[in-house]
Amino acid sequence: MAKTTTDSNRDLDLAHLWHQNLQHRNLADRPPLEIVRGAGYCVYDAEDRHYIDAMAGLFCVNVGYGRQQIVAAAAQQMAELSYYPLTQSHGPGARLAARLAGLLPQELNRVYFLNSGSEAVETALKMARQYGRLAHPGQNRYKFIARHRGYHGFTFGAMSATGQIARKQAFEPLVPGFYHVPPPDPYRCGFCRAESACNLGCADEIERVIRMEGSETVAAVIAEPVIGGGGIFPAPDGYLERLREICDRHGALLILDEVITGFGRTGKLWGFEHSSIRPDILTVAKGITSAYLPLAACITGDKIFEAFQGHAGADDPKFTQVSTFGGHPVSCAAALANLDILTGERLWENSARMGAWLLDRLRALDSPSIGEVRGRGLLLGLELVSDRATRAPLPEAEMIRLVKAMRDQGVLVGRNNDTVPGFSNVMILSPPLTLDQATES
Ligand SMILES: Cc1ncc(COP(=O)(O)O)c(C=O)c1O
Repeated sequence: MAKTTTDSNRDLDLAHLWHQNLQHRNLADRPPLEIVRGAGYCVYDAEDRHYIDAMAGLFCVNVGYGRQQIVAAAAQQMAELSYYPLTQSHGPGARLAARLAGLLPQELNRVYFLNSGSEAVETALKMARQYGRLAHPGQNRYKFIARHRGYHGFTFGAMSATGQIARKQAFEPLVPGFYHVPPPDPYRCGFCRAESACNLGCADEIERVIRMEGSETVAAVIAEPVIGGGGIFPAPDGYLERLREICDRHGALLILDEVITGFGRTGKLWGFEHSSIRPDILTVAKGITSAYLPLAACITGDKIFEAFQGHAGADDPKFTQVSTFGGHPVSCAAALANLDILTGERLWENSARMGAWLLDRLRALDSPSIGEVRGRGLLLGLELVSDRATRAPLPEAEMIRLVKAMRDQGVLVGRNNDTVPGFSNVMILSPPLTLDQATES
């Protein structure tokens, strides 16, 4: 029988909620944390215990909790116009598209709104395939090159681009045409670990796969500037530039998935700003509203957009995709207020400063379990090992114990979970970008 609302939230949850990515067997013995409110970079549970939210929810509450400016903007928009689709137009959508274009290089000036990171990636993949056919008549550019350990979302296309078998195998077969290469992982690199320095062999592997598959069949390369959920792997110096050269040489598009790295997370407004390159398509979500409401975007520019315009008398090549809630006016209004805060407080600078401070402090820790500390801005990972010499990953049970111990100490950290079998050993820190002096004590 269904529980009623007079039961406690915990009872209702255990009886009816199907949680995300969670084994429910014996859940009553270790019930999920019930968070009831948030302020700044902290959240509070039902017993009013407070925690530093060192994961900013899921890498997303960039400006922190409790920003009344965003609440007011959303409420005002909801009162004025609660919904209209972007098959037509509305002010918040138009203003937000222009605002994003203003924050990006001029090559990225066309914004297609969606609700989630997965949808933004799905849209980027579809745009890339259709663009391939429009720009290269007679060729069938349908293949994508992605990286192992990368995460791009839960929908079929985005999941096919994802390079984490544990997130995919229950749902196979996936979408055809996705190929994976090793990620930049200097700690365990098969290309340069024995060399004196990184030789970007992992980037060159992408070119090798493109040549083997046939350039004229490849639509795009997709990559996160810093692999996030898969275990925090920043692109090494020169890596994105090498990807750009390879894509240009083979007529493939470069899709950068900045669902995590966008909006200041890595210490610059955009992850690609750590390089000299521009992507052809950029996917963003999470920090676009700091998760006050769901919103995402697939952003591109004239080169791709113009290919969809056709010309008089030709077949109509428009991008045939509708998203009912994509670009919801209330989400767009929240995003505009969020961007006012993010840019007004230049939070990417705090992300760079606090990230560098944390990185130094973590690297100075003398623990036999810390194999490597890496990251960029406030996106940090500690690769934990049971033996520093062999680099054997810390076993799953130990990781669970550690994350729980941190929680008992009042710090909510993440870890890469269900990514690579046997390698769920990276503890992840990705707090709100407002982390301040108080945490330094
Ligand atoms: C890089 C990246 N792309 C896409 C996604 C999917 O986003 P969403 O969970 O909003 O669908 C995520 C989610 O964490 C992500 O980290």
